[in-house]
Amino acid sequence: MEDKVFYRDTWAEIDLDALYSNISQIREYLPEETKIFAAVKANAYGHGDIPTSKTVLAAGVHGLAVAFLDEALAIREAGITAPILVLGASRADDAWIAARKNISLTVFQVDWLQEAEKVIPAGTNLRVHIKCDTGMGRIGITKEDELEQIEDFILQSDRFFFEGIFTHFSTADQLDETYYNQQLSRFQYFLSCLKTLPPYIHAANSAGALCHHDSLFNTVRIGIAMYGLSPSDEIKDNLPFNRKEVFSLHTKITHVKKLHVGEKVGYGADYTATKDEWIATLPIGYADGWIRKLKGFEVIADGEMVPIVGKICMDQTMIKLPRSMPVGTQITLIGKQKEHFISVDDVAKKLETINYEVTCAITNRVPRVYKTSKKV
Ligand SMILES: Cc1ncc(COP(=O)(O)O)c(C=O)c1O
Repeated sequence: MEDKVFYRDTWAEIDLDALYSNISQIREYLPEETKIFAAVKANAYGHGDIPTSKTVLAAGVHGLAVAFLDEALAIREAGITAPILVLGASRADDAWIAARKNISLTVFQVDWLQEAEKVIPAGTNLRVHIKCDTGMGRIGITKEDELEQIEDFILQSDRFFFEGIFTHFSTADQLDETYYNQQLSRFQYFLSCLKTLPPYIHAANSAGALCHHDSLFNTVRIGIAMYGLSPSDEIKDNLPFNRKEVFSLHTKITHVKKLHVGEKVGYGADYTATKDEWIATLPIGYADGWIRKLKGFEVIADGEMVPIVGKICMDQTMIKLPRSMPVGTQITLIGKQKEHFISVDDVAKKLETINYEVTCAITNRVPRVYKTSKKV
């Protein structure tokens, strides 16, 4: 992996050994014939798409799944030749480049196929997966006649290869299986309408693959679980592997000062010292995705939990220390330091959101440092 120098004491540490271990355990848990597409969209949920892709491919995943064609092209650009599926909608005009780069696209409109057919050069073909909307209400065909038209169009054209068909569950991470079962039956019905079954049939995300044996078909799409995070609180104790969080976030103190009673901290001057207090400044702020709602959240300084005080600024955050600490002291915002551990879920809880959003939201201004047992 290429080494890069950063001039900033804030970094996200990506534990590639944990990633490798999570995905190999998932690989072992699933039937051998089940192919895994690893969801590395959104810069691998903020973990870094290229190092993540290389690691999970080495650990036995079959292919990669992204949201947009640009993401797929960036992975090809990095020299990765594994199958890549674009899960979201792409422009028909761009079908030629996907065909040329051997990238599979998601399709669900006949008009789109007609337009795409015009731009795919003779002698090449585009691998397509038909998306069925079985209840997510997002993209995909909803009726059997749409499916029939699309399948017929693909089969009669030499510019397309019918590579897959899939759907996406909206409640696989819930214990109540009622809606999940409705979606599953609808998908099974769509499959029964096909004239020919394509090589890849897939429905399951992490929750589906790990908690619903009937959703595997022959391929699954695993995202959040390989990053060591649970798809939801409801099923966090049902995951059949020993997960380890891959993402952690750290910074170092840039300034420490003693405040006296009545002195203030931050924009709006809304934090006031009630006695002599040690306040430290950290070089991370909302422009890094460490957003203002985290005011009051506790981070780890020299093995102790300490609160964020005052409003989080664009580039800086202030914390209250129990005593003076040297400039350069490492502060852990997510992850383990001495006895304490802050999980991505703790941050999600404070932000009243899901763990997916937390790692995705840490912006590219924060360097990702890749750690393995061999090398940092
Ligand atoms: C279509 C599709 N498949 C698979 C995934 C991966 O889901 P998860 O991260 O829950 O495993 C996603 C994630 O959003 C998705 O949109």
